[in-house]
Amino acid sequence: QQHRPLSGKRILVTAGPTHEAIDPVRYIANRSSGRQGFAIAAAAADLGADVTLIAGPVHLATPPGVVRIDVETALQMQAEVEKALPVDAAIMVAAVADWRAAQAPEQKIKKDGGNIPALNLTENPDILASLATHAKRPKLLIGFAAETEKIVEHAQTKLAKKGCDWIVANDVSGDVMGGENNAFHIITKDGVDSWPESAKDVIARKLMEKVADALAKG
Ligand code: C5P
Repeated sequence: QQHRPLSGKRILVTAGPTHEAIDPVRYIANRSSGRQGFAIAAAAADLGADVTLIAGPVHLATPPGVVRIDVETALQMQAEVEKALPVDAAIMVAAVADWRAAQAPEQKIKKDGGNIPALNLTENPDILASLATHAKRPKLLIGFAAETEKIVEHAQTKLAKKGCDWIVANDVSGDVMGGENNAFHIITKDGVDSWPESAKDVIARKLMEKVADALAKG
């Protein structure tokens, strides 16, 4: 008998970086590999959930049983998140770019002697924060925080600022981004649960077991 405590539950996961166009051939990006988010989507499906995974540009195979939607930009990610609602839980693992180019011309920007073009940025929407106040707010809304110092303190501030239920804080001061392992601190209104460093798929499974417990309690 398989252990399927998430059976009948709809779970949304975002993962990976976003790419923000500067022109048709150049973009702004970050070092997120998408591996932790993909491991979480895989664990959720394994525990019986109906999983929608909204993925930025990554080089990873779709986990078995997961419905995957590929996007490039933060604006596209936000639109796909909206379409995926309602869900029981949303786990926002993506490293969404904070800014995009204010204008992205349709033609490649040409080198023009010594004239260096200015890159004007504009802020991207905060997808996690927008879900917190959404009419179809997920019952359990989980954000991630990549921190290099004062991990728990920064995550507690983020929990309040974003209006989510849990923040999963991870220490990215080492080689976590793109690496094999991760260590989580789960920050909720009731306190902090700190888990030892483990492989990304092992810690993903543990997180989804905790999500299953929380959803079972209502
Ligand atoms: O503010 P910060 O980027 O550190 O917050 C990280 C959390 O917020 C992650 O869960 C991330 O997926 C989410 N986020 C988002 N949209 C943004 C920026 C962050 O959903 N534009």
